Amino acid sequence: MKIAVVGGDGIGVEVINEGLRVMKHLTPEAQIEKFDLGADRYLRDGTTMPSEIMERWRNEFDAIYLGALGDPRVPSNVHAKDILLGARFQLDLFINLRPITLLDERRCPLKNKDCDDVNFIVFRENTEGLYTGIGGQFKRGTPDEVAIEQEMNTRKGVERIIRAAFTYADKHGRKKVCMADKANAMRHGHDLWQRVFKIVAAEYPNIEASHLYVDVLSMEMVRCPERFEVIVTNNLFGDIVTDLGAILQGGIGLAGSGNINPNGVSLFEPVHGSAPDIVGKGIANPLAAILSLGMMYTHLGRPELEKKIFKAVQDTLLADQVTPELGGTLSTTEVTDAILVRLSSDVST
Ligand code: NAI
Ligand code: MG
Repeated sequence: MKIAVVGGDGIGVEVINEGLRVMKHLTPEAQIEKFDLGADRYLRDGTTMPSEIMERWRNEFDAIYLGALGDPRVPSNVHAKDILLGARFQLDLFINLRPITLLDERRCPLKNKDCDDVNFIVFRENTEGLYTGIGGQFKRGTPDEVAIEQEMNTRKGVERIIRAAFTYADKHGRKKVCMADKANAMRHGHDLWQRVFKIVAAEYPNIEASHLYVDVLSMEMVRCPERFEVIVTNNLFGDIVTDLGAILQGGIGLAGSGNINPNGVSLFEPVHGSAPDIVGKGIANPLAAILSLGMMYTHLGRPELEKKIFKAVQDTLLADQVTPELGGTLSTTEVTDAILVRLSSDVST
């Protein structure tokens, strides 16, 4: 196991350090190489994402483990764009995989919902949509200004993410795939999604394929989350509905994700950002980073390690050994300590 590690900015560095403690415990044989990338590096020497490093990630590593990027000292966010969006686009990480799994029902903000009710996974398209930067500004800064942001949907891109969702459902015994778009208003791109969804769904007669407009999806995720097993949607909608999903599962500090290229190196990261408001205080919740590590293990063929992590995180939540944003009193490192204690006893049983 050869892992490229980027803490990045703010609490990204803090939570990845905790994830690395768990990695050393579970897989001491893993080879780790840390990359000094992020706002500090950019402010020091102007480097955002050297192409040699991208090529090394592509050719030499099994996975990339990343914290978060974003720093108030870099308002343009240019380094984050080059590093994170750069990796997503250049390494073709077309699946953004975001499980929405409630581990402790007391942490769900919905009334009368338990862990079985909030248990689905979102396949967010990760390489096109509204995130390609195609567009432009005209007469910038004048009252006549025009700003155009174009949404790119390719047949290949739409088909491969929809197919990935069905393949996953098929492989994991999930019976339903729901696709969300806004085809009633966005007649060109989302019509493509509708047509491709029907074609791919027809190849999976045992999986129930349904469709919701994204506004209704948002409503239904709150009203009736138990109706969902696998959701597939575009880049922007996936970004938004998975933050909603993160709250359903107990908070942004509990949401892990994978940026996956099934045929190449993949990147794993917590969903949250660099949280400048709490950086340096030692109170960032490390569990999202630790759950992301679990996803990485499964991706690398070690699903038993993700199961162990999952159980340890669940038990830690149930014991209220949590950071302040979840109502606890533990520090970032103390939460990891609690996880490591559980993993140690788990190993011996
Ligand atoms: P954020 O996720 O950093 O913070 C939102 C709120 O959640 C804050 O109140 C923060 O304190 C809290 N929070 C986040 N993670 C937490 C954790 N692990 N433990 C405890 N509390 C936590 O999102 P925000 O404020 O919108 O963005 C801050 C910066 O992060 C920006 O520069 C943004 O661009 C960047 N960002 C980067 C992402 C990435 O690298 N994938 C994703 C989201 C934002
Ligand atoms: Mg987001």
